[in-house]
Amino acid sequence: MTRIDFACRAHVVEEMDRPDCPLVGLHRTLAHFNAINRMFSRYRGMLNEGVVNDMARGEARRYRLVDLGAGGCDIARWVVRRCRARRLRIAISAIEHDPRVAAYARAANAGYPEIDVVEADVLDRGILAGADFVFANHLLHHLSDMQCIELLRNVDRARPRRYLLNDLMRSPWTYYGFLLTTSVFFRNSFVCSDGLASIRRGFTLPEVRALVRAAAAVLPVSVRRLVPGRFVITGGTAVGDLPTG
Ligand SMILES: C[S@@+](CC[C@H](N)C(=O)[O-])C[C@H]1O[C@@H](n2cnc3c(N)ncnc32)[C@H](O)[C@@H]1O
Repeated sequence: MTRIDFACRAHVVEEMDRPDCPLVGLHRTLAHFNAINRMFSRYRGMLNEGVVNDMARGEARRYRLVDLGAGGCDIARWVVRRCRARRLRIAISAIEHDPRVAAYARAANAGYPEIDVVEADVLDRGILAGADFVFANHLLHHLSDMQCIELLRNVDRARPRRYLLNDLMRSPWTYYGFLLTTSVFFRNSFVCSDGLASIRRGFTLPEVRALVRAAAAVLPVSVRRLVPGRFVITGGTAVGDLPTG
């Protein structure tokens, strides 16, 4: 068995990012993200408190959320359902640079006119204009350290009420825990192999804190560790102490 080095971020390519990966595998992977996110991502608690409850407490108007690297948009659809249940108005811009993924998301979003899939790079100018909330799940590990710093600066400059950047922590615990839980149930997609690659491309807590320091955000910002094997960077003009769901 090859020994895996967790000392620094690995430059490994995920199957789903290969332009020639089989479309059926890509589609199954995007479908499996739904279950993976529910099991591991902790997004429901942080978005419920950080976005939905914040909207309910705020003025009655339409709020704009930008979901960076939105993939198949399962999380965006969950936010819409939560908002509909609470009679809150939301418009979500789902930013995705891969046209194959954007096409899949548009089809999956039928019946969700609140979500606009925008084919763009997360570092493109203008995508954050007018954002009340900015969210990203499993995006940061796709970016270089310099790109993460640029993104943090862009988000800070956009002055959203709140941003939540949620991602994987690189460690042997995260890696082998993920391997054990996914290798049996997610055999026919790239979820297991790409998840393991993502963890190797991910960050340690000191690395994330160094990126946040380098970005020198003006708005209040914090980095918190979450179980299992993840972290969230929270910032914005309305940042309180959020429960982590
Ligand atoms: C691991 S997936 C996560 C998708 C989704 N956020 C979720 O949690 O299910 C990362 C997504 O970000 C997209 N992505 C990566 N780099 C990007 C960039 N620079 N600009 C826009 N999208 C990007 C990828 O194409 C992919 O769909």
